[in-house]
Amino acid sequence: MTERLTIRRPDDWHVHLRDGAMLQAVAGFTARQFARAIIMPNLTPPVTDVAAAEAYRDRILAALGEGADFTPLMTCYLTDDSDTEAIAAGHAAGVFTACKLYPAHATTNSAHGVTDILKLTRVLETLQRIGMPLLIHGEVTDRSIDIFDREAVFVERVLTPLTRDYPALKIVLEHITTAEAAAFVTEAAHPIAATITPQHLLINRNALFDGGLRPHAYCLPVLKRETHRLAVRRAAVSGSPRFFLGTDSAPHVVGAKQSGCGCAGIFNAPHALEAYLKVFEEEDALDRFEGFASEHGARFYGLPLNEGTVTLVRGAAEVPARIGEGDTAVVPFMAGETLAWRFEG
Ligand code: NCD
Ligand code: ZN
Repeated sequence: MTERLTIRRPDDWHVHLRDGAMLQAVAGFTARQFARAIIMPNLTPPVTDVAAAEAYRDRILAALGEGADFTPLMTCYLTDDSDTEAIAAGHAAGVFTACKLYPAHATTNSAHGVTDILKLTRVLETLQRIGMPLLIHGEVTDRSIDIFDREAVFVERVLTPLTRDYPALKIVLEHITTAEAAAFVTEAAHPIAATITPQHLLINRNALFDGGLRPHAYCLPVLKRETHRLAVRRAAVSGSPRFFLGTDSAPHVVGAKQSGCGCAGIFNAPHALEAYLKVFEEEDALDRFEGFASEHGARFYGLPLNEGTVTLVRGAAEVPARIGEGDTAVVPFMAGETLAWRFEG
C-alpha cells in the first residue's frame, strides 16, 4: 500500500476567494495546498476591469501576508458591455489570465452576467485571436428547463454551436457534472478542457436529501445522479490532459447556507487535495493524480509547470465540523468525516 505520495506542486484552476473578512479567513487554505489558482471574479460588484482585478489581486496577496508563495491568476467577469480592447490589454499586461462567462442569473453573484452569447461576438473573436481562455459556467438559465438538465442542455444548445463558430477558441468548461459534458470534452475536435470539483466526484444528489435537507451539499451546478458522478470520475482518472483540478471552493457563512433560501457553494479548500486523492485511490489511479492536479491545467493554459513538490501521507485527517466564527464561520465539505490521507506540505 502506498504510504506517501509526492507530486509536483498543484494548482487550483477554479476557486472563489471572496473579499473582506471572508478572504482573510479562507485564502490561506488555498495557498497552503496550491501554487497558483484561477480566481473567480464574482464579487459584488464583479471584477470587470483591469483596475479592479489588480486591486483584488493586491488584497489577496495582502491577506496571505509576506512570504506567501502563491500566485493568484485573475479573471475578467464578462458582461453584455465588456470592453474588448481593455480585456486584450489586460491580458497582454499579464493581469487577466482568462475571461469568465456566467450566463446571467445562473449562480451566485451572476446578475451582471451575459444575457445572450451573441452579444459577445467581438469579445469571443478577440479571445480566439489572442489565445486567451474562455471559462464557462455551463448551464442554461431557462427556468422551464429542469435544474438537473441545465448543463446537458447548455452543451447541446450553447457549447456545440460556440465550438463550431469559434474553432480555435480555448474553452474551459468549469465544474462539469454530467456524462454529456464529460463526453463532449473528451470527444470534441476543439481546444476544450474541463475542471472537476471534489464534491462532484465524491457525492451524488442523494447527499442533498440524506435524512433531511442538506444545505452544505448544495452547489451549482447541482449534484447529479450516480451515473453522472461515475462518468465524471472516469473522466478525472482517465489520464486525459483535458481534465484537471478545479475545486470551485465557494465559502458562504453558515447562516447564508442554513436559511430559507440557502446560497449555492461548497467550501472544500481546507482538505481539497486529500478529497481528490480519495477518489484516485478508490479508482486505483494514484499514478494519474499528478497529471490531474499539477500538469494538465498548466499545459492547457500554456503556463509553466510549478517547481517544487508537495507530499501527502497516509494517516487519519479529521475534517472539522466548522471553521472560523462569526462572519466567517463556514461548514467545510465532508465536515466531521475522517480522510485517509493527510497533507504534509
Ligand atoms: C459559486 C459561488 O458561491 O460563488 N457557487 C457554487 O455553487 N459553485 C458560484 C459558482 O461557481 O457557480
Ligand atoms: Zn465557481
